[in-house]
Amino acid sequence: MKTNCAWRLVARPEGPFKPQDFQWTEDPLPDLADGQVLVRQIYLSLDPTSRGWANPSATYLPPIPLGSVMRGFGLGVVEESRYPGLAPGDYVQGMLGWQTSAVSEGSALSRMERDPNIPLDAYLAVLGHIGATAYFGLLEIGQAKAGETLVVSGAAGAVGSLVGQIGKIVGCRVVGTAGSDEKCRWLTEELGFDAAINYKKEPVLSRMRRLCPAGIDVHFENVGGEVLDAALAFINTRARIVLCGLISQYNEFVPPPGPRFLGNVLIRRARLEGFVVIDYQDRFHEAFGPLATWMAEGRLKYRTDIVEGLEQAPVAVNRLFTGANIGKLLVRVSDDPGERR
Ligand SMILES: NC(=O)c1ccc[n+]([C@@H]2O[C@H](COP(=O)([O-])OP(=O)(O)OC[C@H]3O[C@@H](n4cnc5c(N)ncnc54)[C@H](OP(=O)(O)O)[C@@H]3O)[C@@H](O)[C@H]2O)c1
Repeated sequence: MKTNCAWRLVARPEGPFKPQDFQWTEDPLPDLADGQVLVRQIYLSLDPTSRGWANPSATYLPPIPLGSVMRGFGLGVVEESRYPGLAPGDYVQGMLGWQTSAVSEGSALSRMERDPNIPLDAYLAVLGHIGATAYFGLLEIGQAKAGETLVVSGAAGAVGSLVGQIGKIVGCRVVGTAGSDEKCRWLTEELGFDAAINYKKEPVLSRMRRLCPAGIDVHFENVGGEVLDAALAFINTRARIVLCGLISQYNEFVPPPGPRFLGNVLIRRARLEGFVVIDYQDRFHEAFGPLATWMAEGRLKYRTDIVEGLEQAPVAVNRLFTGANIGKLLVRVSDDPGERR
């Protein structure tokens, strides 16, 4: 009988995740019911939103019940199927959880058309929920257009690094903020950003004033706090502020005071709009075509930060909150059968 190894959430975190918030379990896998598939996980995606899911109150999803497998998005290969739409050997993405194998309703999974020229990690870094977040957030909510100035925070992360590059592709001037000189160099020297601000050591307000002489037309917010505050000081008339994430608050009990320059949203008739990418699930395919083309053309680059082994997940997830990751944070849970061929 096959065994499933899993991390279960057993305590509500106070502040950052701690190893004792999780418990490692090994259980026999159940038999499949009609409509179900067995998926062996290859890559687990570690995402900032998981911190909110672990809280006792609902976010855009219900809280994870204590004692259940930690929720998480992942990519894997079907090993057994009692669902007509999936067969052994198919690659799928979905909420596989922090576990080595998942028994899932087949209808809850997305089958991937795997292109042999695209590395498997790119399907989580670009051609998955991250790419869709950047694409729809910037182009639909942000309505970014050629000639405009775009500022993106958390710019060296998974979403932010794509947002800035898509901004360049559509013809924006792009300024990113990130937490180290190494990250800022990556943005300007390799990804084509026009400028980058190391928010940990530079005065954000005065640097943003200097780097955005024509003001800000689109601000893509991943972080909240000081950077959002500064961006609001320089928004243009009819600016769009895309509220994608507020990671600086996810470990806090009490939210920080609101931004100081909110009055500019009013007098400049700006629009501040939050969004959650799962609302675009049925339209992901619209994003994947252009994203894959830009990748193939070398205009859209990505980086993955891969941690080896599911055992590492409870510690590795905090890389997102310390800023240790550059690009998409993944856990390699098992080997890709495609790579062994
Ligand atoms: N709305 C949606 O549907 C949606 C979907 C996906 C992601 N998101 C959100 O988008 C944001 C980015 O997610 P991601 O998956 O791409 O993660 P990520 O950017 O790859 O990783 C998180 C980064 O946030 C920065 N950070 C952490 N704590 C910070 C703090 N206190 N102040 C400033 N920066 C901090 C760190 O970079 P530095 O070194 O630069 O500090 C870290 O590398 C998150 O807020 C996430 O919740 C939203």
